[in-house]
Amino acid sequence: MQILGICGSLRKASLNMAALRACNELLPSGMTMRITSIADLPMFNQDVFDAGIPEPAKRLRAEIAEADGVLIASPEYNFSLSAALKNAIDWASRPPNQSWQDKPVAMFSVSQGPLGGARVQYDVRRILGQLWAHVLPRPEVFIGAAPSKFDAQGKLTDENTRKFLADLLTGFKPWIERMRVKK
Ligand SMILES: Cc1cc2nc3c(=O)[nH]c(=O)nc-3n(C[C@H](O)[C@H](O)[C@H](O)COP(=O)(O)O)c2cc1C
Repeated sequence: MQILGICGSLRKASLNMAALRACNELLPSGMTMRITSIADLPMFNQDVFDAGIPEPAKRLRAEIAEADGVLIASPEYNFSLSAALKNAIDWASRPPNQSWQDKPVAMFSVSQGPLGGARVQYDVRRILGQLWAHVLPRPEVFIGAAPSKFDAQGKLTDENTRKFLADLLTGFKPWIERMRVKK
């Protein structure tokens, strides 16, 4: 079972990316993860799409389509999702063969605020739901006050947070099996 990791923050020292990397150490047996980049996507423009999908978007669409599931790490920007993440979702959402159709997705959010991105999750869930993605309802994982949970090298050191992420990944595996569409 191969999952694709997508991080909604583009910054080098992103704590969402640090948490996503930590997930690699917490995967259940039989699951592997590859983390992709959304940094090279141009801003979505239907004219550009119609003229020929740019390579980075083509690549992302194929990566999502080929993955058994997608794991999203999302920052909260102004109570919602980052433009970078929305842009990536949009590029993969246009027909034909929109990539989110029937795709199992799990998500978590990492933020500096005390709520851990509680508000962003429902926006991401709402957006992906109407694209017929199947977003794992629970467990919900909100990593708040994030800077205190990582060391200076970006290693996730907080044991409770590691356990929350491990539980999310453990729950994601049967969700992928349950949502698998017979082709
Ligand atoms: C434009 C912008 C808006 C932000 N808005 C919120 C917010 O609404 N809620 C919140 O908890 N943190 C907010 N933050 C702080 C982020 O939680 C913090 O920068 C976090 O580290 C971003 O994730 P990253 O480390 O993966 O880049 C915002 C940061 C930026 C740059």
